Amino acid sequence: MRSFALFLLGFIATTSARINYHRHIVSRAYVEQNALFDAYDFVIVGGGTAGLALASRLSANPNYTVLVIEAGGIGPDSVDIPAETYFKSVFNSQYDWGYETVPQPAAAGRKAYWPRGKLLGGSSAINGMYLIRPHQIEVNTWHDVISSQPDAHEWTWDNFFGALKKSETFTPPTDDTVKTARIQWNADSHGTSGPVHATYPGYMVPSTQNWLPTLEAVGIPRNGDADGGDTSGGFFAVSAINPTNWTRSYSKSGYIDSLPPGSNLHILLQNTVTRILFDSSSGGLRATGVEFSPAPGATVQSVRVNKEAILCGGSINSPQILQLSGVGPNDVLSAAGVDVRLDLPGVGTHLQDHISAGVSFQSKQDTAGDIEKSGSDFSKSAEFLSFVNSGVAYVNSTTLFGADGVTMMHQQMNSDMPSFATSIGTGSNNSQVLEGFKTIYTAISDKIFTSNVGQAEILFNLNIPGQIVVQAAIQHPLSQGRIWINTNSAFDAPSIDPQYFSHWADVVTMREGLKLARKVAGAAPLNSVVGDEIAPGSQVVSDDDWDQWLRGNGGTEFHPTSSCAMLPREQGGVVDNKLKVYGTSNVRIVDASVFPINFAAHTMAPVYGLAERAAEIIHTNYNPEPPRGSNNSDPGDSSSNGDLSNDAYRNIISSSTWLLGLFSLALAVFF
Ligand SMILES: Cc1cc2nc3c(=O)[nH]c(=O)nc-3n(C[C@H](O)[C@H](O)[C@H](O)COP(=O)(O)OP(=O)(O)OC[C@H]3O[C@@H](n4cnc5c(N)ncnc54)[C@H](O)[C@@H]3O)c2cc1C
Ligand SMILES: *[C@@H]1O[C@H](CO)[C@@H](O)[C@H](O)[C@H]1NC(C)=O
Ligand SMILES: *[C@@H]1O[C@H](CO)[C@@H](O)[C@H](O)[C@H]1NC(C)=O
Ligand SMILES: *[C@@H]1O[C@H](CO)[C@@H](O)[C@H](O)[C@H]1NC(C)=O
Ligand SMILES: *[C@@H]1O[C@H](CO)[C@@H](O)[C@H](O)[C@H]1NC(C)=O
Ligand SMILES: *[C@@H]1O[C@H](CO)[C@@H](O)[C@H](O)[C@H]1NC(C)=O
Repeated sequence: MRSFALFLLGFIATTSARINYHRHIVSRAYVEQNALFDAYDFVIVGGGTAGLALASRLSANPNYTVLVIEAGGIGPDSVDIPAETYFKSVFNSQYDWGYETVPQPAAAGRKAYWPRGKLLGGSSAINGMYLIRPHQIEVNTWHDVISSQPDAHEWTWDNFFGALKKSETFTPPTDDTVKTARIQWNADSHGTSGPVHATYPGYMVPSTQNWLPTLEAVGIPRNGDADGGDTSGGFFAVSAINPTNWTRSYSKSGYIDSLPPGSNLHILLQNTVTRILFDSSSGGLRATGVEFSPAPGATVQSVRVNKEAILCGGSINSPQILQLSGVGPNDVLSAAGVDVRLDLPGVGTHLQDHISAGVSFQSKQDTAGDIEKSGSDFSKSAEFLSFVNSGVAYVNSTTLFGADGVTMMHQQMNSDMPSFATSIGTGSNNSQVLEGFKTIYTAISDKIFTSNVGQAEILFNLNIPGQIVVQAAIQHPLSQGRIWINTNSAFDAPSIDPQYFSHWADVVTMREGLKLARKVAGAAPLNSVVGDEIAPGSQVVSDDDWDQWLRGNGGTEFHPTSSCAMLPREQGGVVDNKLKVYGTSNVRIVDASVFPINFAAHTMAPVYGLAERAAEIIHTNYNPEPPRGSNNSDPGDSSSNGDLSNDAYRNIISSSTWLLGLFSLALAVFF
């Protein structure tokens, strides 16, 4: 399984995490345990993709003190170089949590390898850099499943689109890149002053010229504006790359390195949060502190929380930490020896992951993998090393199954719903969790499956020497799984069960996606550079052949979501529309675990959008000015409120440098 996951993104295991902690540490708020304050306004658990974005935005208000606690350290140099994500993979190193699922009965009994970034920047520091946004139908469907609750307006497409733009600075591709790959884009769909750089590689492998015309030849139209709310069709995705020096742009470089020294933001590295401490004397739970420890068995320390504890540990660790803190399904907590503070059955459930597999062929033209292997001067240039895969297509159900196929599948999905709304489909017997399962399932079936939104992603992989791989990935699995703790220690991995292929529709989608991938590789003009099929091989032809092969070979596309889903509480929801954990007065979750439905997208851009929205919501919570130019009395409508724009953010940051003197007394620079 692990070797398959490596293959998926063409990560070539020439692993060598060069470790150098002493390089370009430009930030200044790294603190050691003994330099921590006793209390912070906001304690952010996890310095990953969302955690650092939120920390940066919240600390832009000089009135707040913010602490980030991150389990990992600073990553190796190779993190900065885009192509090294394949050629110097940090998989299974100290920078990777290196999780594994429980055996998957419907995936040939295999355990799936699930990497996650364990370093400052989290998974944004180790991922493939695709910046792909959801389709607006998906965001509106998210809104629909929570629209019975107060404040659902926080999650409209317009609000989310604004937040996505706010997170990025877009730079159009270079002339050479446009000429090779025939990239099309619409600058109006992008941001111009946000922290994360969004652009295209400085070099495109020649084979990329075939991608868009070949897709067209098989009936997949090109999309010239894939970032404006309609992702359907084929395109080259924007990547999180800084074009000034062709480096990875991630949450650390974008949101943190740009901050002034000695700010009101402290970052504690190499410490694992073990639990949130609660007070329940006034009814609900109020977080009073956060506990952490550098290693199993080492002293556990804590800091006090003045305003809020915010979980940004990602889809695996946020539910784990909540459960360790006594918030989660009763039976899980009791079995693990954790005192139940709040029975919240949805914590860890509704887990949805994209499953991916690839059809591989001999390549008649040098791939990026071949160029890298050559060791030529060019292979060491910054332009070449900025090449990352980005050719994709989001293919709707009509293209995959035909109009009649869609009608039949849709009917069958709906009539089968009750039989899957059991522990078979969900991994849980809790009636609230089952209600949430039904809500998600029906929303996918009725609002997404029959629409133009992609059901399968087709992806063009050019990183393996001698091989061209066309991958296919399920985007809206009907199988839902769960995450649960087995002990009361944060240092023990939780169990992860995505229930891969437990729903027949997931198998059908994957099968038809793989057939389409093979068809793409065989069509002109791409077929001029494609040789013999390597895997699965010409003996795999019938539906049964494909099904058997994909059960044995499908693996994660690294996009688990929804394990602390934003749903009504009576449907196994974990957070409300303001991202607040039900039953608590001051704990929020801001990471990929809160999306109620996974998107036909890669999950980093949505996480940045979420973190930007969270910062606005939190800001408004403590600064409830009436919206400008309206008599709307709802202080929650931050879309029209004086939230922290990128300009305001910079102004506040510069005016906050006065804090430097004050804080530097208390600060010990870690590196
Ligand atoms: C190999 C790989 C490739 C991917 N490729 C892409 C891609 O190309 N494009 C894309 O859009 N998405 C991609 N993804 C997915 C995307 O990166 C993630 O969905 C997204 O970054 C998740 O953000 P997050 O904030 O939810 O979690 P993370 O970024 O994972 O952050 C969680 C942070 O919390 C820390 N943490 C966890 N537990 C604790 C604890 N107890 N105490 C302290 N700290 C803790 C972690 O160390 C980590 O830093 C990829 C993911 C992986 C792993
Ligand atoms: C900080 O607090 C002061 C005093 O309460 C207030 O006047 C000011 O508006 C606050 N600043 C911000 C950015 O919220
Ligand atoms: C890349 O350039 C940015 C300026 O745009 C700079 O802040 C950053 O440190 C550079 N990265 C590296 C690794 O040199
Ligand atoms: C759900 O109930 C069934 C039947 O009682 C049982 O076999 C199964 O273990 C339960 N599943 C969970 C996750 O509790
Ligand atoms: C699916 O995509 C095809 C090709 O673009 C298009 O003709 C068709 O209308 C789409 N189906 C839906 C339901 O939008
Ligand atoms: C707000 O309401 C008051 C009183 O109803 C009205 O006079 C005023 O014009 C309104 N302002 C705006 C901006 O709508």
